[in-house]
Amino acid sequence: MTAEPTTQLIKPDGAGIARAARVLAAGGLVAFPTETVYGLGADAGNGAAVARLYEAKGRPRFNPLIAHVPDIAAARALARFNESAERLAAAFWPGPLTLVLPKRPDCPVAELATAGLDTIAVRVPSHPVARDILVAGARPIVAPSANRSGQVSPTTAQHVLADLRGRVELIVDGGPTPMGLESTIVACLDRPMLLRLGALPRAEIERVAALALPAPSEPAAVDSEELPLAPGQLVSHYAPRARLRLNARRVEAGEVLLALGPTLVEGSEHAARVLNLSPRGDLIEAAANLFSHLRALDGCGAAVIAVMPVPHTGLGEAINDRLKRAAAPRG
Ligand code: TXA
Ligand code: MG
Repeated sequence: MTAEPTTQLIKPDGAGIARAARVLAAGGLVAFPTETVYGLGADAGNGAAVARLYEAKGRPRFNPLIAHVPDIAAARALARFNESAERLAAAFWPGPLTLVLPKRPDCPVAELATAGLDTIAVRVPSHPVARDILVAGARPIVAPSANRSGQVSPTTAQHVLADLRGRVELIVDGGPTPMGLESTIVACLDRPMLLRLGALPRAEIERVAALALPAPSEPAAVDSEELPLAPGQLVSHYAPRARLRLNARRVEAGEVLLALGPTLVEGSEHAARVLNLSPRGDLIEAAANLFSHLRALDGCGAAVIAVMPVPHTGLGEAINDRLKRAAAPRG
């Protein structure tokens, strides 16, 4: 467990912005206003910071996060834009629109932040405080709404404080957020697809960008925070090619091993490859390594990845949830 941070409420003046950027760069958690709702930010490239963010929110699952960047040039370093994405970004950025796009192979965002998916949600906020922090930090910042899991999205610094006191380092108080509703999310993978209704009305997107945006087939475009938004052909969770054998207490011939803590499983010396989520059994470190280790083991070509038991405490609950999904047979 990490020590509880003392939460400080600060003003968005020059010194406050510089401090927010410093805390983020050092792996800390900073809540800040956007034009939609307050976000809880962490350095997108720092897997351990992202793991702490999930812990602070108390999310029982690793839901993929939105990467916030200062401009489209920075967004291009993370994701590939097709023609509709270009059109939407040109029309609505900066602003309350999030685009889900194919992740670039060299995308510097931690695997945990995208929950191991090949897509990434990107947004360029228009709120001056959010923009100042992004420019000063000069790095992508992942930020879910700054509420505890299960609570509504916060629109004032006081809401954030009520939910996250003692769980985050800084709250930058920029007053009430102008829109009070989360960003609208559109996936531009093949044809554009509306994933979440939000602050930018669908009709306006269709009018300004001159493209049809079919309503989601299920009325599921409501942000439950517990599931990635994945209607239609979108993959909702990371799925390795290899089969996962969970709670493994011994390694069978030909298997690779995903370990946690001291490698006390029988036959581990025969494993074709062993990767340890956290040799000292730290669940924050384990979460940060989860998707990258799974990918690396999957890339070895073994048919089965044996996974040592993960305690069901703290982030272990979310780790077990993802492992269970990754182990489920695919339809
Ligand atoms: O207005 C907003 O969007 C706020 C501010 C802080 O930017 N952020 C926000 O984030 O609402 P969050 O994490 O509360 O909601 C993001 C939603 C989640 O439902 C998540 O599953 C979905 O976006 N999402 C993120 N990446 C995705 C992806 N690659 N594919 C599908 N859904 C994704
Ligand atoms: Mg939310």
